[in-house]
Amino acid sequence: MARLRVGILISGRGSNMRALVEAARAPDFPAEIGLVVSNVPDAGGLVFARDAGIATATVDHRAFKGREPFEQALDAELRKAGVEFVCLAGFMRLLTPSFVDAWHDRMINIHPSLLPSFPGLDTHKRALAEGVRIAGCTVHFVRAKMDAGPIVGQAAVPVLPGDDEKMLAARILAAEHRLYPAALRLIAGGKTRVDGERVVVADAGAPVPLLLNPAV
Ligand code: GRF
Repeated sequence: MARLRVGILISGRGSNMRALVEAARAPDFPAEIGLVVSNVPDAGGLVFARDAGIATATVDHRAFKGREPFEQALDAELRKAGVEFVCLAGFMRLLTPSFVDAWHDRMINIHPSLLPSFPGLDTHKRALAEGVRIAGCTVHFVRAKMDAGPIVGQAAVPVLPGDDEKMLAARILAAEHRLYPAALRLIAGGKTRVDGERVVVADAGAPVPLLLNPAV
């Protein structure tokens, strides 16, 4: 089966991009990473992508007057590289409905909370302030509303006594690095179908049945 050609959009260190690139090295992975694009010229992730032999592009939003021309340039880079599917990985620009619609059901994002809880920024801080016992991350199809859209998969981790934002973020990030490649594998392997605002998954592995925190 032909591998799905994926473009990854980043703005920073790109550790999720790296997890996807590394997963895609497996011969049986159903997607290939055709392009990594950053809107920030000195994003750390670009160095890793280049060293890994992946094509990269920079589309600096500051060089454009407004979101639409910026997104047109982004779209042009993706299409030029033959990208069929987009993964947002720490991409810190809001996308307009016209870009989101152009990639409808062909663009996913990873967010460091169990959506629909804690969309937006400062997720770890807010989760700690609310005293939640279980936190995690979500991979979802992108819709015009920020951090919302059909959920492909989620990973949960416990919030531990004494956690600060950094500790919780690190635990969730490790989960992100497992979840994102797993979600892309399902989609690229044809195991998912978007049905309205929900994703139907076929033949997924059995989940770990229960996470209790505190354990009783
Ligand atoms: C991750 O926590 C991701 O969930 C969020 O932004 C962060 C990006 O980290 N959307 P990285 O650039 O992938 O290391």
